[in-house]
Amino acid sequence: MIGIRAKLATKSSGKWAGSSGDYAKFGLTIPEVLQATRLLKSKGKEHCLKLFHYHIGSQIPDIRTIKESITEGARIFCKLVKEGARLEYFDVGGGVGVNYDGTASINYTLKDYVEDVVYILKQTCDLEDVPHPNIVSESGRLVTAHHSCVVTNVFGTIEIGKSDMPTEKTMNEHVLVSNIRERSGEITDKNYQDVYADALKIKEDTESAFKLGVLSLEERAKVETLFWKISRQVVEFSKKDEYASDEILMLRNQMAQQYLCNFSVFQSAPDTWGIGQILPILPIHKLNERPEVLATVADITCDSDGKIDCFLSPDGPSQTVPLHAFKTGDEYYIGLFMTGAYQDIMGDMHNCFGRLNEVHVFCDDDDPTDFYIEEIIPGNRSEQVLSTLQYNPETMAQTMKQNIDQQVKRAKIRPREGVMLTDFYENCLKSYTYLKR
Ligand SMILES: Cc1ncc(COP(=O)(O)O)c(C=O)c1O
Repeated sequence: MIGIRAKLATKSSGKWAGSSGDYAKFGLTIPEVLQATRLLKSKGKEHCLKLFHYHIGSQIPDIRTIKESITEGARIFCKLVKEGARLEYFDVGGGVGVNYDGTASINYTLKDYVEDVVYILKQTCDLEDVPHPNIVSESGRLVTAHHSCVVTNVFGTIEIGKSDMPTEKTMNEHVLVSNIRERSGEITDKNYQDVYADALKIKEDTESAFKLGVLSLEERAKVETLFWKISRQVVEFSKKDEYASDEILMLRNQMAQQYLCNFSVFQSAPDTWGIGQILPILPIHKLNERPEVLATVADITCDSDGKIDCFLSPDGPSQTVPLHAFKTGDEYYIGLFMTGAYQDIMGDMHNCFGRLNEVHVFCDDDDPTDFYIEEIIPGNRSEQVLSTLQYNPETMAQTMKQNIDQQVKRAKIRPREGVMLTDFYENCLKSYTYLKR
């Protein structure tokens, strides 16, 4: 049985537009499709050609593109049948868009899509007097996007410019320190933009003066402490000011707290990094309390790209997401949703974190809780990740034990300590790669 993929002239738009059109990687051109059909016919094998297929790309945003592709595909299908191909299946490919951001970026529903496929195909076949084929769909993202989410705990925050260093006036302090302290004492909701401009200038001058050896480390630290104090006040004043300048709005985003979360962007949400995909991200705790802290999300990799700073908001994409205030030791979880399509499979080993603990949850109306947990699959242990990178954890453990034994023999460490170190190393190899509470 043979299926043929055609390159349609109809092109989609957006990131995957290159999957169709003359320069696409896959598919036969119209002359090639025709030649293939005629070749099969000449060999008496035309009955083998069962399926006609095209795929014009993922995340098709516009229903008009879908209508056009079906119109073109249906016409090619009918002409091939008339050429003698005994086609039975019409495979419309994938590409049905998933509305990640809840906006009109995908301008049709699944119902619209299905109606168009069936209606246009039926009408074209009827006009061409060709039997109706079986319709096959390959829309993967649509089927899978909602099936999984990533739950991660917050374990800390990074607050920009947080310092409680004393900034009192001292004898003979530099005028830059006195000036910024003075401006800090004068800030109000009326003059905050002006004070911020002065503070920025003083900070710049301070950095130059410090490099020239005019300012002490202590004085520089005081200026910076006061500068960040002013910046925090500016952010607060600007929240109630609908005329805040672009510079102040940028400061608001820059000052946003970073919530450190126990996951890897590269393993669990690679599209947020690779193609700027916006995923729904929100707290799954404290849902009856208003989240007041505007934050960004940082992962535990040592890669500065391991962060998320583009989120959904009622006003469109936003660089911050509202989360609840967090104190070290709190139990607080957030969810990254709609990660079912392409995320876990594209997720990689960057920084050796490997796969997460996975829980398979099934809905079941007959269950008193409406769901049941079908399976729990533990995530990767360090030794598994190391093995995939061609290390041999057993040899590593042996080598470490030998080194420790030598140090014990040389009386550099006590035997009891040696045993503890060996156990610690072996436990590390056996333990989960992510942080444990
Ligand atoms: C031939 C083919 N069919 C179907 C799909 C699935 O696309 P989607 O997940 O956007 O529906 C792809 C994705 O690349 C594809 O190449």
